[in-house]
Amino acid sequence: MKVTPVSTALGAEISDIDLSQVLTDKQLAELQSLQDQFEVLFFHDQDLTPAQQQQLANQFGELLEYPYVDGYSEAPYVVEIAKLEQDKLNFGGLWHTDSCYLLRPPSLTMLYARELPPLGGDTLFASMTRAYDTLSSGMKTMLQDLTANFSAEQTGGYAVREFRQNKNLDQTPRRSTHPVIRRHPSSGKLSLYVNGAHTSNFTDMTVEESAPILAYLYQHQQRPEFSYRFRWRVGSLAIWDNRTTQHNPLNDYHGYRRVMSRVMVVGEVPLGAH
Ligand code: OGA
Ligand code: MN
Repeated sequence: MKVTPVSTALGAEISDIDLSQVLTDKQLAELQSLQDQFEVLFFHDQDLTPAQQQQLANQFGELLEYPYVDGYSEAPYVVEIAKLEQDKLNFGGLWHTDSCYLLRPPSLTMLYARELPPLGGDTLFASMTRAYDTLSSGMKTMLQDLTANFSAEQTGGYAVREFRQNKNLDQTPRRSTHPVIRRHPSSGKLSLYVNGAHTSNFTDMTVEESAPILAYLYQHQQRPEFSYRFRWRVGSLAIWDNRTTQHNPLNDYHGYRRVMSRVMVVGEVPLGAH
């Protein structure tokens, strides 16, 4: 396979590989190592049925059942992420990491483009290892032993998911407490794990006390030099590390359809800095 880095912050485009075929052990190990290095991998011109997408993800680990949206009948772990002609909201349309309100949030998300608008519908990705590395030593020290509360019911995150919810849910709120600075289990990299869609407050601080520090961290995370803007083609696949990156799909194509399919791999219980 051929590897082309796409920005100084994160991301590489991988070519000369057919993801519809079962990967060899060598290919899988190489992709995992590139994933650790580049945080997001991009592929073009892939031809994947939902079942093949599910099979691909399953080679990376146990699949995560998304609590809010039903999957395809032939591939129950693969969920359709669509914005239709008449829709105004787009799914996940703000900076976030996926499902971080779960006890074991997804390690990887694989998103595949099936139908796209003629222009628009790009996705921004940002490196949270970069965001962490560029904090002052004082801020790193202050944050390194803190945990934060993550909730699926935060207004922003809720609003960009709720219109697609079609599962009959039990009423249990989905929330977890995770480290603010997260250690990647294989690369050892530290990243800034809070995000504006799902984080409510630092544990042992009130929402009001947390708000100004979180607001600073959110705007720091969104600095353009930590990010890369990916332009999809039909048949593109992105695999992102949900532990070290955030993403934000742009909502700039009203009146057109954009249909993606997504599958997630279960991650570990997040590790702290120490
Ligand atoms: C997601 C998501 C991004 C996009 O599926 O988790 O945030 O570009 N989608 O649609
Ligand atoms: Mn997402």
